[in-house]
Amino acid sequence: MPEANGNGVRRRLLPLLNNRNGGRSAMTCEYRCGNQCAHPAPNESDNEYFGDMVSKAMSRRGLLRTGAVAAFVVGSGASATALAGAAPAARPAAAGGRPPGDGDLQVELPELGRPVNFMAVQDNTVDSVVVPNGYDWSVTIAWGEPVEQGAPEFDIDNQSVEAQLKQFGYNCDFVAVLPLDRTFDRALLWVNHEYTNENLMFRDWVDVASATEDQLKIAMAAHGGSVVEIERVGDTGEWKPAKRKRYNRRIHTWTEFEIVGPAAGSDFLKTGDDPSGTTALGTLNNCAGGTTPWGTILTAEENFHQYFGASADISDPTTRERFGRYGIRTSAGTSRGWDRVEDRFDLAKEPNEVNRQGWIVEIDPYDPKSTPRKLTGLGRFKHEGATISIAEDGRAVAYMGDDERFDYVYKFVSKNTYREGTDRRSRQHNMTLLEEGDLYVAKFTGNSPEFPDSPPNDGLFDGTGEWLPLIEDGESKVDGMSVEEVLVFTRLAADQVGPTKMDRPEDVEANPATGTVYVALTNNSRRTPAEVDEANPRAENRFGHVIAIDEAGNDAAAKTFTWQIVIVCGDPEDPETYYDGYDKSQVSMISCPDNVAFDPSGRLWIGTDGMPGSTGVHDGMFVMPVEGDDRGHLRRFVSTPIGAECCGPAITADGRTALVAVQHPGEVSGATVDNPASTFPYGDFARPSVVTIWRKSPSGGPYIGD
Ligand code: FEO
Ligand code: CA
Ligand code: CA
Repeated sequence: MPEANGNGVRRRLLPLLNNRNGGRSAMTCEYRCGNQCAHPAPNESDNEYFGDMVSKAMSRRGLLRTGAVAAFVVGSGASATALAGAAPAARPAAAGGRPPGDGDLQVELPELGRPVNFMAVQDNTVDSVVVPNGYDWSVTIAWGEPVEQGAPEFDIDNQSVEAQLKQFGYNCDFVAVLPLDRTFDRALLWVNHEYTNENLMFRDWVDVASATEDQLKIAMAAHGGSVVEIERVGDTGEWKPAKRKRYNRRIHTWTEFEIVGPAAGSDFLKTGDDPSGTTALGTLNNCAGGTTPWGTILTAEENFHQYFGASADISDPTTRERFGRYGIRTSAGTSRGWDRVEDRFDLAKEPNEVNRQGWIVEIDPYDPKSTPRKLTGLGRFKHEGATISIAEDGRAVAYMGDDERFDYVYKFVSKNTYREGTDRRSRQHNMTLLEEGDLYVAKFTGNSPEFPDSPPNDGLFDGTGEWLPLIEDGESKVDGMSVEEVLVFTRLAADQVGPTKMDRPEDVEANPATGTVYVALTNNSRRTPAEVDEANPRAENRFGHVIAIDEAGNDAAAKTFTWQIVIVCGDPEDPETYYDGYDKSQVSMISCPDNVAFDPSGRLWIGTDGMPGSTGVHDGMFVMPVEGDDRGHLRRFVSTPIGAECCGPAITADGRTALVAVQHPGEVSGATVDNPASTFPYGDFARPSVVTIWRKSPSGGPYIGD
């Protein structure tokens, strides 16, 4: 393998002068995150924006990575599952079973550092999925299609709660594919259902106030996630739902979850329905996620605040402070109307119910009867996702972003170590790893003390960093806060230790081939010129950027790191932008980076959310080599339909299929079922859907990106 991240000559970055506002559809703002951008950023702490306080010399990026991650990536947003190098398993997993043996896929994998060869999809505004010449795509599953046994076919005019509980949920975000057999002809598809858009679901929808209880409950049933057994079509890269549904499962707002980890049973988590504080119903606003090397799904509860209303003002000052830091309402009112259906969504009646959302959830897709678990050890915030790496000493490390303007990047390091193998005992052990460990929050320090008064003296936005402890060795490292308080009110705890306020941390993922961790910072149009720092160097950042972190010693459990901005997004002709030093006349325009994935060849894939508002062209899926001569040559691989965000993305473990979640197609202000802004995917009205993309003519190689 060539030297990863080799230090080639980089183009000098020019001063950043951007002064434009961010933008996305007003309908998206209302439904996806409860208009959180319309409110002041909840982080009012006085943590610094200026990073250049320390210039401690640390080794620059560019070392060959070995052994940092004991796994290959299979899913999007964060998926690592063990696919190489361990004992074979002779038979497919049975329902209620476990994944095929570590790394025993009988498939040929592409070599590391493989060049990208397709011709980039151009900027466009087509109401469809557009893929490069030589590729094909199909809809794998769309909103309302049957998932569980006995589910009816979708009929938009005959929706019911009972049907939706068994059908594919609404907006699809994180996508993962986990193998069911050694030849990788059968697999499990996991998809998050982040939120609903009732305007585009019901012909007769007017507003929350006039919604029927059935409509509200159908929306509740359409949240959560789906497990769908899929199978390959012939010997192509295409996948379709299998007839067999042994693993198929809907997770929704009434699914029972176990609360585990140090905050389980805490007074902060007790409610009238659950005086033990250990059992919660439902998982809400599941955005990105990851898979673990032991074959489980991690799914992240993000903008959970919007589902809670209040029948009276919240007066207790401590509760008001805690709610305020999470953007949870403190005055009487509703946004989704769910508090009308169940008291648990009424903050005045059940102030602790909201503390039971905002977690990373672990789900075993190989056991449809398993109880999913909320992992309190990983802290509570607006979790974007979680990706697992294995540290030098075998501890499991989860990288996590808190997606809000001026919030932070976190990592969790397990107390116990990963046990290789997918035998039942190893798997049971590994499934406890994320229950106990240390929790850190990131501080980024620039190495150009004169910035922002003048451009960085080394022409790069880069520097050093520290993982500041919040919990270590089972003890709180935050003055005046107990372990339970740190974990349940993590944002308030982090405010006290001085992390760096970031431009909306979305996906944070390590590249299994190199160990380098990529942080997608999607945008932050509210950062003022006085608030820029070297890690967030652009005022009114509409386009976002991507930071690469190299852990000290390439050890995921390290407490220090170096970092460098590798993409400053936006129009390549804009002198403010930067594409890892590559000739910008050759790259595709990217903006608002959101989900990150890697293929078996170690190439970086990025899904975007917000290009229509920031650039006028549709969102998409992009690939960027991270080493060799083509490093930084970012190309658009997929463009998504009108109003849609490009989620997933996922590249399967064999490198032969890309999956994209077309989230909220047609989500344009004023659109309805009968007056759709998009008719993707079937030509009638807009339906969120998962799309599979594969090479049509595999001569010269069957791999995605060739
Ligand atoms: Fe649901 Fe942070 O995107
Ligand atoms: Ca610098
Ligand atoms: Ca996201």
